[in-house]
Amino acid sequence: MLFLAQTASNDFHGFLPTRGSVMLDFVFVALFAVIPVLASSIWLVKFRKPAELHKCEWHKWIQLALGAILLVAVTAFEVDMRFITKDWRSLAEASPFYASKIVDYSLWIHLCFAIPTPLLWIFVIVRALQKFPKPVAPCEYSSRHMMWGRIAATAMFMTAVTGWVFYWLAFVA
Ligand code: HEM
Repeated sequence: MLFLAQTASNDFHGFLPTRGSVMLDFVFVALFAVIPVLASSIWLVKFRKPAELHKCEWHKWIQLALGAILLVAVTAFEVDMRFITKDWRSLAEASPFYASKIVDYSLWIHLCFAIPTPLLWIFVIVRALQKFPKPVAPCEYSSRHMMWGRIAATAMFMTAVTGWVFYWLAFVA
């Protein structure tokens, strides 16, 4: 009943009972799926036995799929912000954290991770595809990949956490 009343008064915009747009809601929810998949993909290679090369192959394809999803999500997000939702601020104005600029600060912190993350992912994926043999197996490039892979995975994790905080401050509170 409350849901219907709020829908009728146009307080809902996306599919979650918050002030977020469809795309903001989608990214908010999608990140809850992306993070466990990313963790599982790294877990596969980290705890494999040396002979279990099929786990490297799984890691490769999971990471390529996550990279493609990230690319589609970033593009859809940009299209939404520029052409469909346009003004996320009007959706966030009702937040008790809006006037004090806490919402703005949380967005800046989020962008510190969200902007470099796709660039890091492109770099890690392109270099891995160039350097690892086919079929995938550890090689002299492994240690560099592990370093950059950990940085790229951490950046993605931080993008998700800071994104969830921003979403909550702007569109839930
Ligand atoms: C953004 C995409 C990727 C991320 C974030 C990533 C992340 C990682 C991380 C963190 C590790 C080290 C795990 C540990 O601590 O032991 C790792 C290992 C590995 N990755 Fe990736 N990876 C990515 C893409 C790829 C791709 C595209 C390939 C293959 C072409 C690949 C092949 C491997 C292999 C073979 C290992 C094991 C290295 C070894 O044990 O010697 N990765 N990756």
